[in-house]
Amino acid sequence: MESTETAAARRLDGKVVAEAIRESLKPRIARFSASAGRPPGLGILLAGDDGGSEIYVRNKVRACEALGIRADLQRLPAEASLDEVMAIVAGFNAADAVDGVLVQSPLPPGMGADAEQQVFDAIDPAKDVDGFNPVNVGRLVQNRPALAPGTPSGIIELLERNGIPIEGRRAVVIGRSDIVGKPMAALLLHRHATVTICHSRTRDLPAVASTADILVAAIGRPGFVTADFVKPGATVIDVGTSRMTDRDRVAALFGRDSPRLEVIERRGATVVGDVHPGVAAVAGALTPVPGGVGPLTIAMLLSNTVRAAEARR
Ligand code: GUN
Repeated sequence: MESTETAAARRLDGKVVAEAIRESLKPRIARFSASAGRPPGLGILLAGDDGGSEIYVRNKVRACEALGIRADLQRLPAEASLDEVMAIVAGFNAADAVDGVLVQSPLPPGMGADAEQQVFDAIDPAKDVDGFNPVNVGRLVQNRPALAPGTPSGIIELLERNGIPIEGRRAVVIGRSDIVGKPMAALLLHRHATVTICHSRTRDLPAVASTADILVAAIGRPGFVTADFVKPGATVIDVGTSRMTDRDRVAALFGRDSPRLEVIERRGATVVGDVHPGVAAVAGALTPVPGGVGPLTIAMLLSNTVRAAEARR
């Protein structure tokens, strides 16, 4: 029997688009390296031992190296102080061979609730490849050239390269984070969508969501967006990446014959999106998890690093 995950909706493949983005960067990296006498450089700081961050950072370093971007990974233990983080950021800001600076989030909780904001404030806006510094956030909101966060920028690339129109369409973004929801809304607005942002206190969420031609789910709750949230034919973008380890919960979402159960056997967990598999029968186009938005985030980080390098010369 075919699983519900492979039903009607067209699958928007993030790996294909990410590969196309990486290909387009290769000649730019070669040109930059030839004229600068060095490759573009990305300074990455990983503080603490968060398992997810460990994997993300490893993937970022590998992606840089595969493309000829020099990754300078600095690590700090979970007990490190905010001052130590700031000292490394200051070093990256001052280093001529470092074009982009990335401090992996989350920082260890012991650094305090507003540590991340302080760190993002301290990153040189010209090197802020995550687009989290308030200068870049402000420029993005004003629709001026800015380094913009990777996940929402990657989603725009995915829509545009798949010929999905944005102008004049209704877009609903579920989630209001600084990393995804808010910048996603700004990028869609600047491409002339009519944009609504929903969140945990939105009343009658399914009714609002089902007005969307483009629905972006970025809440981090596995399978939360069910078919009743989705207008038939809508494009649904699933930003969720929840690790699930419980076979019974996964079977309840995806069915007893889902290949995900075997993934749990082999790897101990399966990565699950915010969108319920039943949405595939209603949506016109849908991003898979994994293999949808995830690969684009890293491709856009590489793109921002090359852009920052070119702009600094
Ligand atoms: N943690 C989760 N997503 C991100 C991201 O895009 N950038 C950084 N620096 N940390 C993250």
